[in-house]
Amino acid sequence: MAEQRDKWATKLGLILAMAGNAIGLGNFWRFPYQLASNGGGAFMIPYFFALFFLGIPVMWIEWTIGRYGGKYGHGTLGPMFYLMSRESLKPKSALWFGVLGGLLGFSVSSLLSSYYYQIIGWSAAYTWYSLTGAYFGQDTYKFFVGYISNTSAVLFFWALTMVLLGIAVGQGVSKGIERWVKVMMPALYVFAIILVIRALTLGSPVKPEWSAIGGLSYIWTPNFSALSKNFFKIALAAAGQIFFTLSLGMGIIHNYASYLGPEDDVALSGLATVSLNEFAEVILGGSLAIPIAFAYLGPEKAIKGGVGLAYMALPNVFMHMPAGRIFGAFWFLLLWFAGFTSAIATYNYLVAMLEEDIHIDRKKGTWMVFVWLFILGLPIALDKTLLVLTDMDMWVGSYFLVLLGFFDIVVGLWLFKPDNFWEELHKGAFINVPSWFKPIMLYIAPIYMLILLAGNTWNYAKGGVFTLSPAYMQDLVKNQALVSTTIGYAKHAVTVARGMIFIVIIIGAIEAYMAIKKKYKEELEKNEVIIKL
Ligand code: ALA
Repeated sequence: MAEQRDKWATKLGLILAMAGNAIGLGNFWRFPYQLASNGGGAFMIPYFFALFFLGIPVMWIEWTIGRYGGKYGHGTLGPMFYLMSRESLKPKSALWFGVLGGLLGFSVSSLLSSYYYQIIGWSAAYTWYSLTGAYFGQDTYKFFVGYISNTSAVLFFWALTMVLLGIAVGQGVSKGIERWVKVMMPALYVFAIILVIRALTLGSPVKPEWSAIGGLSYIWTPNFSALSKNFFKIALAAAGQIFFTLSLGMGIIHNYASYLGPEDDVALSGLATVSLNEFAEVILGGSLAIPIAFAYLGPEKAIKGGVGLAYMALPNVFMHMPAGRIFGAFWFLLLWFAGFTSAIATYNYLVAMLEEDIHIDRKKGTWMVFVWLFILGLPIALDKTLLVLTDMDMWVGSYFLVLLGFFDIVVGLWLFKPDNFWEELHKGAFINVPSWFKPIMLYIAPIYMLILLAGNTWNYAKGGVFTLSPAYMQDLVKNQALVSTTIGYAKHAVTVARGMIFIVIIIGAIEAYMAIKKKYKEELEKNEVIIKL
């Protein structure tokens, strides 16, 4: 019954595409500032813990769910969750898990793209500004604010990125995405390695006590006392980073895995994705922004660099570095490539949805998604304070990912049944996953995720995030705004972000409901499983 779907043409292409999916801005932009602001060596302890107990298990689960869905001709979460839930539930009840999966997958792909693509656009702009030396000799903080406030420049670099994404995705999986990543991923590694060599040979160019090696030791010296003082906050940040960097809880690993054959390995390939990503994050990402900033700006500024480390602190470094224009361009091109190869995946998720659920051909679907993402991204592109982006990322970039990861386990393991899952994971597998991993996947990972969700909810409630308490709004204005703004504007920005989230969730739910109803009409009417491969 499954229609002829596109498939990965080569094993190498698949692995590079998956690595490209995972390796993104998260590795080179988000990881360093999370690491720096959460105590360096203190962050690494819960980070590796989360990698082992959440990252690896959820990666295997998402590959397995995705390949299973692909067998039935689906690349999106609604039908995938529906099909797997039927192992324990009657179709009419399974439908609700399908709707849940569909709305989460659609919401994360759409909303994450709405701001993630903007940041890729900034990287494109900064590649240009590095080459031309536009920020050289200037206050880089003011330069960044100037850029964000320059609507036509922001729109131009964002639109340019989106058009290229549209071209890549429009060409299809094997002829488009796979070909693009085969060029971009090796280039990304080369850029990163060149930069790491440069970073680690900087010595102490400004003050004898400031060095790149000092940055490395900040990261690699385990700091248990800092961790114990802020345990919950750091543990949450570390687990959130694992989800973000591995592209878990987004629907996009499932989507890429759906283009596998039913007997293609997922066990070793899933592990390879994690390994390639972690090499890029911990070894390469960890040896760039922080050590460079330690050498040129000193530990204090490096640690406080926050979100602006990549776009405000580092340009300050490049302008004082020999051949700084070239190294600056390498750095921002690295960010652009990394972001682009992840963005292709969220874009493709949405195109696959139109292709499979509504039978719109890929070319047309690609440009429909373009318009959709343009509409969603516009309020963010036009917001000079970045408050819409900040609020959106708070919900989508952390909360939704863990929520979706939790339901991956509920559906892919519990409802699909653990033994079925284990068999599915090992179909065509190149390795045997040790059986002691089963209880980790079945119990430890979901409990871990529930604790994270509860902790997040508690933090949000305490901080007045739900009610937009005056103290929360004041903090938002004080800490986040790049340009001076008012509480009134901040309220407006947060309301826009939440309104968008609400609308996208509703559309996602309706879409998934209708798609599953249409395709599995007969079995839903009879409430008996009919289609089984
Ligand atoms: N995993 C992607 C990143 O790290 C989304 O940016």
